[in-house]
Amino acid sequence: MTQNGHYEGASIPAGKLAGDGRNILSVEKLTIAFDGFTVLDNLDFSIGYGEMRFLIGPNGAGKTTLLDVITGKSKANDGSVTFDGDLDLSRRSEHALVKLGIGRKFQTPSVYNSLTIFQNLEASARFRNRIIGLFRPMSRAIIQRIHETLELTGLTDRQEQNAGILSHGERQWLEIGMLLVQEPKLLLLDEPVAGMTRRERDRTGQLLQDIARDRSVLVVEHDMDFVRQFARIVTVLHQGKVLSEGTMGIVQQDPQVVRAYLGRSRGQTGTAAAAAGEGILPARDVSTATTGESTI
Ligand SMILES: Nc1ncnc2c1ncn2[C@@H]1O[C@H](COP(=O)(O)OP(=O)(O)OP(=O)(O)O)[C@@H](O)[C@H]1O
Ligand SMILES: [Mg+2]
Repeated sequence: MTQNGHYEGASIPAGKLAGDGRNILSVEKLTIAFDGFTVLDNLDFSIGYGEMRFLIGPNGAGKTTLLDVITGKSKANDGSVTFDGDLDLSRRSEHALVKLGIGRKFQTPSVYNSLTIFQNLEASARFRNRIIGLFRPMSRAIIQRIHETLELTGLTDRQEQNAGILSHGERQWLEIGMLLVQEPKLLLLDEPVAGMTRRERDRTGQLLQDIARDRSVLVVEHDMDFVRQFARIVTVLHQGKVLSEGTMGIVQQDPQVVRAYLGRSRGQTGTAAAAAGEGILPARDVSTATTGESTI
């Protein structure tokens, strides 16, 4: 980042990365420790309205824990999380979070196999709107939203099929759809392309870009090819702190980032090739990494 707070090569003011320049999510001085082990360490982090941000970092960096704290699943020892203005998110129920406009997708899909795709979306919309009782009708607006979501996720033709027969990728899209019918302002996705084929991964990238047109999205991901292809701004988390932030081109040249990934891999293979395997370094640059030469 330059001194005036712009990312080199990206010309985006820090903290005002997209949208109208305000933050939908601000995490300030967040600290959480488990059994005396500090997982998030005085962490400052924010996302703008209308922004899709990628969060990367070696295993154990604290990425999932950050999502846990944002959604109230884990309680921070110190610091604050502010969402959409000045709301303090601690101690909110799942339904309250959905109502406020936060949707979180876990790595394991939580779709109902015995329901059709349409019914899964319906159940999710009913939860959001507290339409209890199967025989209470949904409003025209909600039905319309379900159809729009089916279109967006490419599942329109399959809406009457049971979710149990979906492929791994399709199940992920359905689950993203189940969040979308709840009209989130911020979507939190933890490793959404894990286990996907290349084609599914590319479709997911497109889908996320479409989704991010109308809302903010935070994507935690290990698949660096995917991040390279679809990320605009990447935040690198390491040992509970932001290590680097900017375009993928910028962060993968950051010596601190390279060291963090190498450090993690050293015990396993002892070579920089491990960092390439991890994906943070393009394979062609491994030779310069091992010799300690400038750019990675
Ligand atoms: N509820 C918990 N109790 C104890 N330790 C925890 C808890 N949750 C997370 N941790 C620890 O916090 C550290 C960070 O874990 P976290 O899952 O946030 O990492 P991550 O960046 O998501 O890693 P990965 O990329 O492997 O998913 C790990 O050492 C983990 O064991
Ligand atoms: Mg994780």
